[in-house]
Amino acid sequence: MNPKILILGPPGAGKGTQSERLADDFGVEHVTTGDALRANKEMDISDMDTEYDTPGEYMDRGDLVPDVVVDAMVGEALSDVEGFVLDGYPRNGDQAEALREMTDLDVVLVLDVPEEELVDRLTGRRVCEDCGTNYHVEFNRPEEEGVCDECGGDLYQREDDDEESVRNRLSVYHDNTEPVLELYADHDGYVEIDGDQTPDEVWEDVRAAVEAEA
Ligand code: AP5
Ligand code: MG
Ligand code: ZN
Repeated sequence: MNPKILILGPPGAGKGTQSERLADDFGVEHVTTGDALRANKEMDISDMDTEYDTPGEYMDRGDLVPDVVVDAMVGEALSDVEGFVLDGYPRNGDQAEALREMTDLDVVLVLDVPEEELVDRLTGRRVCEDCGTNYHVEFNRPEEEGVCDECGGDLYQREDDDEESVRNRLSVYHDNTEPVLELYADHDGYVEIDGDQTPDEVWEDVRAAVEAEA
């Protein structure tokens, strides 16, 4: 089984956390625009007719990077994988249309989490600078403070996880990405998941949904 999974939800819903588990458990590729863009924050996009010259200038504010940049990244990433979990894309109607032309999907998961919980999750998140594993200072602590359990790397706080950028990301989500959920509501394999549970409980629901739908 090589399921093609899309995972949707607001910033901080747990898309990255659950995608890592899906990738491990189902042997699929974790395709994430956020991580891909963070690895290319300084990329020169000045010839693409964009407002800023690098992705990082959009990201640190919590604004969307232009479609022309992101669509190309996803097209490239999906072109040489069979199963995948796609995390962070599409974020507006045009990206959803672009995705529809790139691939079909077996499962569409939506993680539901109340807004105030999202702010707490994001401002407390810490990320491994070597392997990208997510932690939280309260909800998901590493065994040793500041050190990754998986690889021993140092943990850092993302540039866009300060309260001001977090509020902007939530409003960008509300305006641009929430309408995308409606486009998928009738899609085969569409499942809403209660993301306001412990990571293990959410995982039980996520795994069951993929097993049932893929
Ligand atoms: P991106 O990296 O995708 O960020 P995001 O959508 O804001 O989502 P996050 O990664 O913040 O949240 P998540 O749902 O993955 O949650 P996580 O599992 O880490 O995008 C960043 C930026 O890149 C965008 O702002 C934009 O500029 C640009 N970009 C990316 N894609 C783009 C696109 N398609 N178009 C244009 N621009 C794009 O969990 C969060 C925290 O909560 C962690 O600390 C975790 O440990 C904790 N946690 C997880 N699950 C639980 C739980 N069940 N209970 C308690 N804590 C939990
Ligand atoms: Mg993420
Ligand atoms: Zn690590």
